[in-house]
Amino acid sequence: MAPDQFQRQLLAWFDRHGRKDLPWQRDISPYRVWVSEIMLQQTQVASAIGYFERFMSRFPSVQSLASAELDEVLQYWAGLGYYARARNLHKTAQIVAAGGGEFPQTLAGMCALPGIGRSTAGAILSIACGQSQPILDGNVKRVLARYHAVTGWPGETRVAERLWQIATAYTPPLRTAAYTQAMMDLGATLCTRSKPLCEICPVAAGCQARQQGLVRQLPEAKPR
Ligand code: ADE
Repeated sequence: MAPDQFQRQLLAWFDRHGRKDLPWQRDISPYRVWVSEIMLQQTQVASAIGYFERFMSRFPSVQSLASAELDEVLQYWAGLGYYARARNLHKTAQIVAAGGGEFPQTLAGMCALPGIGRSTAGAILSIACGQSQPILDGNVKRVLARYHAVTGWPGETRVAERLWQIATAYTPPLRTAAYTQAMMDLGATLCTRSKPLCEICPVAAGCQARQQGLVRQLPEAKPR
């Protein structure tokens, strides 16, 4: 299925079924979207909501986060795990605050910040800055590997490059924020690892893995 048709079907599904009332979807800013994306890297949406609300009440701006003690930031992170994320959050806040308080608006500038990889940078730029930038987190890798029947382990450079190429080609020039959120929601709710709900998937008609009976096998696990 051509990118424009894929985008139309995905966005129509998102308009009807997507979540648009999450705390980080209100008062959108690079700061709020950045914090939410770091939390959501290893935490489910339902668990992240409370942490996000408490974190934003205490650290409403990048300056307030930058000037806090690391110990207090870690206290607000307690329970989320992967504490390197909180340390990087604090470090990045100090870098951004020292530079005037505005986040960089380029992929390279964003990726230079501690804890922000290419996909997180794409998510912040598309959701908070209105830019057409692709993302490729674990959920999106699964959606694209299945839709295009991409074999091989996505941890392998060649496979990852292929998926980035597809992610880039399929990211629309307009409504990129909605598209980004829709891809993550599709991967989290329908195109799941163990119980994919292909019967109600908005893009099932063009899914190569489905046509080839490969949905369960893709994406491939790390070879051992
Ligand atoms: N995982 C990472 N970012 C996410 C987001 N914005 N919404 C849902 N799940 C996510």
